[in-house]
This record gives sequence, structure tokens and C-alpha cells, in this order.
Amino acid sequence: MGQTYFVTGAQGCIGAWTVKALVERGDVPVVFDLSDDARRLRLVIDDEQLTAVRFVTGDVTDLDALRRALDDCGARRIIHLAGLQVPFCAADPPKGARVNVVGTMNVFEAALAAGIERVVYASSAAVYGPDEGRGALGEDEAAHPTTHYGVYKRANEENARVYHADTGISSAGLRPLTVYGVARDQGMTSDLTRAAKACVLDRPFTIRFGGATDALYAADAAAAFIACADRAPEGAHVFNLHGDCVEVTRFVELITANLEGEERCRVTIDGPPLPVASHMDDGAIQRLVGDLVDTPLEAGVRETMERFRNLRERGLLDARDLEA
Ligand SMILES: NC(=O)c1ccc[n+]([C@@H]2O[C@H](COP(=O)([O-])OP(=O)(O)OC[C@H]3O[C@@H](n4cnc5c(N)ncnc54)[C@H](O)[C@@H]3O)[C@@H](O)[C@H]2O)c1
Repeated sequence: MGQTYFVTGAQGCIGAWTVKALVERGDVPVVFDLSDDARRLRLVIDDEQLTAVRFVTGDVTDLDALRRALDDCGARRIIHLAGLQVPFCAADPPKGARVNVVGTMNVFEAALAAGIERVVYASSAAVYGPDEGRGALGEDEAAHPTTHYGVYKRANEENARVYHADTGISSAGLRPLTVYGVARDQGMTSDLTRAAKACVLDRPFTIRFGGATDALYAADAAAAFIACADRAPEGAHVFNLHGDCVEVTRFVELITANLEGEERCRVTIDGPPLPVASHMDDGAIQRLVGDLVDTPLEAGVRETMERFRNLRERGLLDARDLEA
């Protein structure tokens, strides 16, 4: 018998890959999302797999709705991915706080009421702030976020710690930086993926940041969330997620190396480095959770371009994000 996982924000990129992995191993994902548009899910799973998914349209800022949905589904574990990314938080900071901070508090409140075993939630490397030559950062490194988004994520980590101290509820907050792969279509760091898509469609594209970043394949990010939901130790943990620390120029070289047929690379890079440290040490999650998936960057970029090409050939490649 498969297990039921309550996955908030699963109409998004990491959520789509999480749902895919859960369905493939016979578990039942309950998608709780403000949106009922399954277009990202359809990019990574087929219609038959989609029938194994349960959907609840709801808002994480609505505690009653969360409580009802959790009571109804019988899940024991929560993967909380719903949130607004950096540009959306910058455009409307109070809304960003309601969704990203109050929404996360609501998830913990609903989890407590439902007797949930463990909450795994998306934090972010944005908590660190700029590089400042600090080397590979561990989780205890001081946080100097320069965005409201980073501050909200840090607040969630501290709230998770207090929830554990006060109530005993276990949690793990995961800090990815630049997740890439099919279905990554919004937020500043989606530029790497959108550049790959633009090349498959033979369109020009400008990546709005330079320097180095930590690029993590979406399938690996999803696998890490599930691994933590399954077996993170008791406590309130915060874990860096580390893929490959890569220069943006190198990422574009890899895109170029994977072009086929008439495809051309018309990608330019125009912008400062991200205000987020690019070197992260993931020793803690390796030690305490372990057995994580680690797709080499070359393979992840190749697979992403193959998937985009396959979708293009079937007339399913959604390019609305390239118009933005
Ligand atoms: N993608 C990355 O590189 C990255 C890096 C670090 C952290 N994160 C965090 O991981 C999580 C998932 O990222 P993603 O790339 O899949 O994001 P995404 O933007 O693709 O998806 C976010 C999802 O949250 C949903 N959502 C937004 N507001 C909601 C609300 N009020 N109630 C319910 N659902 C709501 C959206 O409809 C969307 O489906 C986010 O919390 C994000 O901040 C992502």
C-alpha cells in the first residue's frame, strides 16, 4: 500500500517533480495549491499517472482550508512547497509575508492538529545573502539575506525551531539555490532553464544574472524533499541542498553542447551575480539523511534539453514564460 503525502504548491516546478516521483513509486500525492492549472505536472507526467494524484484547490493563508484538506486526506507527512518567489515578494512584501511566513505557520498549525509525523518545507539559500568570499557555507553560517524573500525563509526556519521546542513537531527546511529542469518557468533563477528552452525553440534569450550559482536538477531537489519526509531524524533541521556550483557561462556552454539539428544558441548574459552565496556545504543532509540522488550537471542539462525537444515535437512545449 502506498502512503499519502500532502504536498503544498505542487502545481509548481519542484512540486511537479515531487508528484512524479511519488506516483512512480506507488504513493499518493495530495496536491494543495492555489492554482488548479496542472500544466507543469503535465510536462513531467502522463495522463494516466495524473489519475493517481488527488487535487485540492486552496490557499495556505487559509488555516481552516488547510485543516480540512489535511483531515480529509489522512496524510502522515507534509512537503510544503507553496510560496512566492523573490520578484513576487519584492513587488508586494506584505503579501509575500502572508504567503511565505503566515502560510508556513498555518502549515505547522494544521500539521499539529492532524498529528502529522514530519513537515518538510522549502527554505532557500537566499537566507545567506551575498557570497563575500565566505567559502563553502554550512547551515550554521550567519544569515545576511538581502531580499524580503530571504528574510521570510529565515523566519520560517526559526519558527520551525520554536514549534519543535514548544510542541515536539519534527521538521526539515531545505535550502536549494537554483533549481533547473523542465517546468522551471518563474523566478529570477529560472533563467538558466528558460535559456535552454529558448535554444530548443531557436529563440534569443538573456540571462539576467552572471557569476556563479548552485544549480540543482529538479528531480534531485524533489528526491531530497521526499527523502527528508521519509527519514529525516527527529528535531527541527535545516539542510543545504547542493547540486553543482557552476558559472553561468559554463551552463550556457553545456546548453550549446546539447544543441541538435537547426537549434542555435542565442543566449546572452547581462546582469550582476545573484545576491546569494553560491558555495554550499551539504554535509549535514548527507550525514543525517543520506542516499540522495545526485545527477551530474552535464546529464541534467542533457535530459532537460531532451525533454524540451520531446515536448516541442509533440506540440506540448509551453513557451509563455519566454514572452514574460
Ligand atoms: N526553484 C528554485 O530554484 C527554488 C530555490 C530555493 C527555494 N525554492 C522554494 O521552493 C518552493 C517551490 O519552488 P518552485 O520553483 O516549485 O516554485 P513555483 O513558483 O514553480 O511554484 C510555487 C507554487 O506555489 C503555489 N502557491 C503560491 N501561493 C500559494 C498560496 N497562497 N497557497 C497555495 N499555493 C500557493 C503556486 O500556485 C505554485 O504552484 C518555493 O517555496 C520556493 O520559494 C525554490
